[in-house]
Amino acid sequence: MPDLISIEDLSRGDIEHIFSSIDHIRRSPDDFRRALAGKVVCMLFFEPSTRTRWSFEAAAHRLGAQVLSVPDARNTRLELGESLLDTTRMAGFYCDAVVARHADDRVMQRIKDTIRVPLINAGEGRTQHPTQTLIDLYTLREHFGGIDNLHIGIAGGIRYSRAAKSLIAGLRKFSNVRLHVVDAPHDADEGSAFPPALGELNGLAPLEYPSMKEMIGHVDMVYVVRVQQEKFTDPAAYARQLQKCRLHRGLLSRASAGLIVMHCLPRTDELDADVDETPQNKYFQQARHGVAVRSATLLRALGHRTANRLIGASRPC
Ligand code: CP
Repeated sequence: MPDLISIEDLSRGDIEHIFSSIDHIRRSPDDFRRALAGKVVCMLFFEPSTRTRWSFEAAAHRLGAQVLSVPDARNTRLELGESLLDTTRMAGFYCDAVVARHADDRVMQRIKDTIRVPLINAGEGRTQHPTQTLIDLYTLREHFGGIDNLHIGIAGGIRYSRAAKSLIAGLRKFSNVRLHVVDAPHDADEGSAFPPALGELNGLAPLEYPSMKEMIGHVDMVYVVRVQQEKFTDPAAYARQLQKCRLHRGLLSRASAGLIVMHCLPRTDELDADVDETPQNKYFQQARHGVAVRSATLLRALGHRTANRLIGASRPC
């Protein structure tokens, strides 16, 4: 079953195959207009979303599928105490694929075990966001022509961010990628070291810096992550951590030549709007890639024969 529960489930070859599908979809969208005609895809979002749900829905519509959308669990019988698993079981009965987001860690496998149709993880607790990672990796590959040998900087609340953790796991599929970090722990974790296992790439620990200012000259891409103000009890601690990670236009003069800036969005104070009009901004391009990346993911999940033929798949797409 071509589920997508974790980026760990994909080999480098799988990821490169998905990239080829994305290229084809972007180049010739009309080839795919009816690729999923007759299919129904359920968007089961138990947490808020702008980009992920909208781009999945847009992708499904552009591929000719029908969408059953649950953007707010308060409109389901969960409100009256029905279990999460019974709710997801119904989605599996009525639809051909389920796209789900939930705040709990490790909930996707439990959902998977209740349904007999493909499941795509659209964001799981603090652990996984595989389709965001495909967007991030595809954006890197588009800009640099490949991902091997890149120096990747991540700054912010990395240890709490599913997008950051998923990205690091995705980067492990590539060769000789080096990770650089600016860690911004919540005040409850202040003083604790950055978890070594989280940042290890190719057997090497991440290079850690006290601030964005120190890191930005050493990396090809900087990925800015929210500092999660709502998780701090002490406003001064939040201000301290934000100050370390915040990226504004003034810092770009210290950047290495060719640096790009990425962010999965939504952003708050950690990424100034004055970076938007610079050539380093690739975060809007990431968001734009959402529809093509999620189209490729839906085609892979639903294994449509026409889509496979169109994509020229050597294996099920
Ligand atoms: N990047 C991302 O997951 O955005 P949303 O929360 O808006 O879906």
